[in-house]
Amino acid sequence: MPIDSPIRTAACDLLGCDYPIMLAGMGGVSRSELVAAVVAAGGYGLLGMVRESPDLIRREIAAVRARTDRPFGVNLIPYGTDPALLEAELLACFEARVHSVCFFWEVRPDLIARAREAGCRVLYQVGNLADARAAEQAGADIVICQGVEAGGHVHGGVASLALLPQVTNALSIPVLGSGGFASGAGLVAALALGAQGIHCGTMFLATDESFAHDFHKRRVVEAGSDETVYSDVFAINWPPRSPVRTLRNSVTDAYRDDLLGHGPDDFPREPVAEEEGRPVYRFSTDSPLRSMTGDFEALAPFAGQSCGLVNAVRPAGDVVRRMVAEAEATVARLCGRADGRA
Ligand SMILES: Cc1cc2nc3c(=O)[nH]c(=O)nc-3n(C[C@H](O)[C@H](O)[C@H](O)COP(=O)(O)O)c2cc1C
Repeated sequence: MPIDSPIRTAACDLLGCDYPIMLAGMGGVSRSELVAAVVAAGGYGLLGMVRESPDLIRREIAAVRARTDRPFGVNLIPYGTDPALLEAELLACFEARVHSVCFFWEVRPDLIARAREAGCRVLYQVGNLADARAAEQAGADIVICQGVEAGGHVHGGVASLALLPQVTNALSIPVLGSGGFASGAGLVAALALGAQGIHCGTMFLATDESFAHDFHKRRVVEAGSDETVYSDVFAINWPPRSPVRTLRNSVTDAYRDDLLGHGPDDFPREPVAEEEGRPVYRFSTDSPLRSMTGDFEALAPFAGQSCGLVNAVRPAGDVVRRMVAEAEATVARLCGRADGRA
């Protein structure tokens, strides 16, 4: 029985969720515990599995399934992954019959076709209008439209408020807004711009179930929106000139006047932390995780401008429920009614 809510959209039917609120597949951060908590509260979740081993992908899929029978997906980034590893990751997803795969960065029609053949819904996060059109043309089921205010890797240069309505006007498949959305009013704004929901990273990073280290969660909670920095100084692990949005730290301060134009070979391999015996380097794209020890201040503190809307670390289910309540109240206010119904 579908939930009766003014913010429910057709994308919810496609995804098998109650509310059009999607947890972004944040690498390292969006693991099984967080995905299960978001889907249990009626949202949709993506495991962040960029560059992870097929073994971990299989384990994490099984761990979500052990906690819930609701659908969820897996996020992969072809551009940032060695082709042989990507192939093994895809096979792990297809063999596990995941409900959806979500790709990010440049559009790969070959991968869309393969994922569809394997029976997965295909979500594609893009950062510009041309890529949005290309993803639809190649058969994606949903396009996720990322604005430049987003946290983590950022593919485009246009803010959500300007880009999202252009993409929703141009496409006939459902579009989700991504970047800057961390409130119920923001969700309603995305719907007003023609989107069928939102895709959130920073907001869910600061939750009890996220795999981010407490150090990172605390920084997100304490930061204002003007403390994010757009740079490519966190370069090791990715191809050159792949910009990210992080909070300011000692690394961005040192490159204050030279934030862009870098690649992985421009920086020394200087271990500053460790994850189960693996060295983690300054200038790498690794962010501080629960499983790491070391100098967290020097690691990539990914966060979007939406960090200014995040004021506490909460259970992820509460974050979803608060957003739904606030969105319904916003719709009611806009309709001049107080009962929450449109
Ligand atoms: C810590 C962190 C890690 C991220 N990792 C990924 C990733 O692995 N794959 C991906 O497609 N997007 C990743 N992103 C970007 C998100 O998909 C999304 O574009 C972004 O979080 C939206 O902006 P918001 O942070 O304001 O919600 C990451 C974002 C954050 C904050």
